[in-house]
Amino acid sequence: MIQKHKIAIFASGNGSNFEAITQAATDGIINTEVALLVCDKPSARVCEIAKRFGIDTFTFTAKDYNSKQEYETEIVNRCQAAGVELICLAGYMRLAGETLLAAYDGKIINIHPSLLPAFKGKDAIKQAFEYGVKIYGATIHYVDSSLDGGKIISQQAIAYDGSDIDEVESMIHTLEHTLYINTIKELLK
Ligand code: GRF
Repeated sequence: MIQKHKIAIFASGNGSNFEAITQAATDGIINTEVALLVCDKPSARVCEIAKRFGIDTFTFTAKDYNSKQEYETEIVNRCQAAGVELICLAGYMRLAGETLLAAYDGKIINIHPSLLPAFKGKDAIKQAFEYGVKIYGATIHYVDSSLDGGKIISQQAIAYDGSDIDEVESMIHTLEHTLYINTIKELLK
C-alpha cells in the first residue's frame, strides 16, 4: 500500500478550502491524509467541518500565550507528533513566525485570492473589485516572513466583467479549491 502524505491545514474562518481538500483526501483524489487542523479561532466554522470529518484539531487563542514563539512551539510539536510533512494555510489570519518557519522551512504554502503580487493582504477580492480589474485569480505560494510575499508555486486567472461582488467571490472560491487540490497533488508527487 502506498503511504499517504500527511498534511496539516491552518485556518481561521469559514473553511471552504479545508473542506474541499479534506473531501479530496477522503475520496482518494489526493494521496494525502489531513492529519491536523490548526485554528486560532475556536468558534470558527472550520472547526465544525473538521469534527464532521473526524480530523484532529488544535485550537488555540493567541492571547493565552506569552508570545508567538510560545504558541508556535506548541503548533510545531503537534505537527511533528502527527507526522506532518506539509503545512497548507487556508485563510489562516496570522503571519508565520520564526519558530514555525524554522521547523517547516520550505514546507509551508498559502493560498491567496488574487494574482499576486497584486492585492496583497486582507479583502483581496474586494480590493481587486474596487480597483475595477477584469481578470481576477488566485495564487499559491511558499510562505516566508513577509505578507503574501513568498515564491509563487501556481496561479490561475479568471475573467469577470460584471458588477456583482458576490458572484466574483463565489467564482474565485470555486477556482481556489481546484487549484489548491491540484497544487498539493503536484507538490507531494
Ligand atoms: C480564501 O479566499 C483564501 O484565499 C484566503 O482566505 C480565504 C479562506 O476561505 N487566504 P475559506 O475559509 O477556505 O473558505
